[in-house]
Amino acid sequence: MENKKGLFITFEGADGCGKTTQIELLKNYLNDLSRQTVVTLEPGGSDIGKSLRQILLHHEGFVSDVCELFLYLADRAQHIETIVLKNVEEGKIVLCDRHIDSTVAYQGYARGGDIEKIDLLNNIATQGYKPDLTFVFDVDSEIAQQRVGKTKDRLEKEGLEFHKKVRFGYLELAKKYPERIKVIDANQSIEDVFKQVKKIIDERL
Ligand code: TMP
Repeated sequence: MENKKGLFITFEGADGCGKTTQIELLKNYLNDLSRQTVVTLEPGGSDIGKSLRQILLHHEGFVSDVCELFLYLADRAQHIETIVLKNVEEGKIVLCDRHIDSTVAYQGYARGGDIEKIDLLNNIATQGYKPDLTFVFDVDSEIAQQRVGKTKDRLEKEGLEFHKKVRFGYLELAKKYPERIKVIDANQSIEDVFKQVKKIIDERL
């Protein structure tokens, strides 16, 4: 625990994967170890991002795929510069609910966008900065859909097939970047899922 360098950790997975609960548990665990944490999210972690989140999740009319892609990227550009980099430089551990891999999984694998182009655009949005560690919470798509419940946002309203493609996309990403991306079996109980997270974190700290 001597190394007090900041870290940027991202949490990914299909809607209903349980990552938000795990972020809270990890935040408490790190705080107990006297590590300063910042919990944030995409879309919506910055001031501008809050307005973009509202449009992205709740706009009722037609949204083109390209418009959707650029709104997520705009949110990311503002978020990385005003929240993430600043806090990591101050030595804090930034726990971010969704980041670059969401765009590849959702706008790429699920919507059918060109992955190479998305990689390039993600790189522009983040100024080339990458997470130190990424957790992908992998859960059976049918179970994830049940966890989401009845009140669904614009993306959650996409059907089972869409969310299966999202899941596939994340697993492909984990194969591509095994050093950065760790897949967590999120079909288990909250406690057992957290045990997997904690093991990886303990190795990194
Ligand atoms: P959440 O904050 O409740 O997870 O909702 C964010 C939604 O936005 C979720 O359905 C995933 C989706 N999303 C994308 O499609 N692309 C992205 O780049 C990001 C960050 C999120």
